[in-house]
Amino acid sequence: MLPTIRPNVVQLHPYSPGRPIADVQRELGLSNIINLASNENPLGPSPKAIEAMQLALEGVHIYPDAMSTEACEAIATKLNLERPQVLVGNGSEELIGLIGQTFIGSELDEVIAGDPSFARYATVAGVAPCRFIAVPLDSELRIDLVAVANAITPRTRLIFLASPNNPTGTIFEKAAFESFLATVPGHVVLVLDEAYFEFAKDDPSYPHGLDYLRPNVIVLRTFSKSHGLAGIRAGFMVAAPEVIDAVGRVQAPFAVNNLAQVAIVAALDDEEFLQKTIEHNARGRTQMTEALEQLGYRVYKSHANFVLVDVREPAQPVFQALLREGVIVRGGHVLGLPTCLRVSIGTDAEVDRFIAAFSDVMAGRVAS
Ligand SMILES: Cc1ncc(COP(=O)(O)O)c(C=O)c1O
Repeated sequence: MLPTIRPNVVQLHPYSPGRPIADVQRELGLSNIINLASNENPLGPSPKAIEAMQLALEGVHIYPDAMSTEACEAIATKLNLERPQVLVGNGSEELIGLIGQTFIGSELDEVIAGDPSFARYATVAGVAPCRFIAVPLDSELRIDLVAVANAITPRTRLIFLASPNNPTGTIFEKAAFESFLATVPGHVVLVLDEAYFEFAKDDPSYPHGLDYLRPNVIVLRTFSKSHGLAGIRAGFMVAAPEVIDAVGRVQAPFAVNNLAQVAIVAALDDEEFLQKTIEHNARGRTQMTEALEQLGYRVYKSHANFVLVDVREPAQPVFQALLREGVIVRGGHVLGLPTCLRVSIGTDAEVDRFIAAFSDVMAGRVAS
């Protein structure tokens, strides 16, 4: 007899990962495949982080520092914070889960997020379980802060705002955010998920979460994107010391491994790599946006390391056609945007290859 699984867990949508290259290779018999589906860093990991992890390898028979002391101190110093305002996690995904466990206490509690946005927010509510309030994006596919504010009730516990948003790459602007923030009551915890912060930070209209810290605001950042460390799992949250203390109690003691801890310290010191990443991304994003617009397609204004393009027809066949060309992207059919594709900014060669493949595929679809 099977053990009883909680009904809310049975109802969770399993994570829908991008297709692994090896899988596509086997299925289609292709050899030269590129993966632009997961918003990873096309330049690889921070070289300083690689060096630090290589040195730390010999110490992996020892449990990690449960407090991630040096990593937290390095983050605090870099961002001009106090050490008790910082908690590192096994990727920011871990922290999103811990925040849910810390603040949701009843099935009647409510969690609000944009729709579509990062899928993990809905999962957190589903696991609790509690009510998930999905607030549709505006016509520019930005998080609609007025609608989010209108969705707040006395039962609201958490609001997750991805800034920039995934899968759209869009931001809400400073003025709109400041008006919104003034309406968020103290009983609501506002989580600003800044996974793509570094790709947006230089736009003067982009609100930096750290400028708005208060007792009910949490800022999340990650080393997965701009520092090229997606595979080592390292993210962090910044919040009031009391909130950090509470979330830290929920976290397993050795969640952040030895290699991740030294990688964080080294990556923070790798300004050269970060700058290279930001510049490369800005160039690729402009090239991709202009090329797709020239082909006649709408591209939403991206502040992240991917673009979202509307192909004006069901995305799945276009996704499949690109796959046959050896180009893996994210189809909007799995993201709640059924006529869109989300495409990560790859290397220069990958960007060129995507544009050529997309152009061929779409020309073929118009002709047929
Ligand atoms: C908005 C958003 N938040 C969080 C994450 C997770 O990042 P991490 O790799 O730190 O878990 C992602 C990853 O794609 C994301 O898009």
